[in-house]
Amino acid sequence: MTSANFNAEGIIRLSDKEFRMISELVYDRFGINLTDKKKALVRGRLNSLVKSQGFTNFKSYYQSVIEDPTEGSLLSLIDRISTNHSFFFREAEHFDVLTKRVLPKLCRVLEKQSTAGQPASLRIWCAGSAAGEEPYTLAMVLAEYFGLKIERWDIGLLATDISVSALGQAVDGSYTEQRVAGVPASYRKYFSKTGPDRYDVADKIKRMVLYKRLNLMREQYPFKGKFHVIFCRNVMIYFDPETKKKLVGKFHRYLHESGYLFIGHSETLGKDPGIYRYVQPTVYQKV
Ligand SMILES: C[S@@+](CC[C@H](N)C(=O)[O-])C[C@H]1O[C@@H](n2cnc3c(N)ncnc32)[C@H](O)[C@@H]1O
Repeated sequence: MTSANFNAEGIIRLSDKEFRMISELVYDRFGINLTDKKKALVRGRLNSLVKSQGFTNFKSYYQSVIEDPTEGSLLSLIDRISTNHSFFFREAEHFDVLTKRVLPKLCRVLEKQSTAGQPASLRIWCAGSAAGEEPYTLAMVLAEYFGLKIERWDIGLLATDISVSALGQAVDGSYTEQRVAGVPASYRKYFSKTGPDRYDVADKIKRMVLYKRLNLMREQYPFKGKFHVIFCRNVMIYFDPETKKKLVGKFHRYLHESGYLFIGHSETLGKDPGIYRYVQPTVYQKV
């Protein structure tokens, strides 16, 4: 199929101007910084969506997205653009820091603060949770850490993402053999084999996580309370320094005093991050 709008492989051409319009929209609404190097990626990821909606050029597609009074078109767009790559026990030393350094300290304080007869409450937020690998890892780690004592705790584990399809997969909690391959043997008990290439997360782990769609670029987040720990790993790599700084400032507002922020291993707030205390690389504490 070749015409002015298609290349020899039937892929719709994306002009520099069209790419700029789309990347500005994605940056304004989602903070994702699509540099010129991402042009081929954008074209590749949007091509079938644009065609399936009957458009033969990106300009008309873009117009339809910005004129859509519902958020539907924009959400389908970001679903294609966002990178939801994740895996169980990614950057595993964070879970060691959590169970060996953070939770023992935090739980002592929280137990003291809890009123007699009431379970102590622990709130964790996984921001940019992709298809559930990270929040389910956290839930499994918490289940192991607390053991039977978990009954005496009120644990809130919130997982949010902008991608509707990633959230759908997360809620299903069903993964292929390849995706659970990295789960340590001692955690395999939290999965059951439900098909030739299917492993489902145990219901008790699924029940620990509440999934919500949330755009991190919102000025305010619809949360009632604050969190003791926030995981936001491998999300800010897509943001420019200004967006990242603003987001880290917002996380600060939603953290309890001395709460912890975990970021991805290729990310940093620097060694003098101002409103946070540097605990160790990629782990910070609210001051
Ligand atoms: C590469 S994944 C990281 C997943 C997981 N945190 C990890 O480290 O494995 C990045 C996630 O951030 C989400 N994301 C990107 N921009 C976002 C935004 N503005 N609001 C909410 N989530 C966003 C993407 O949809 C994607 O699922």
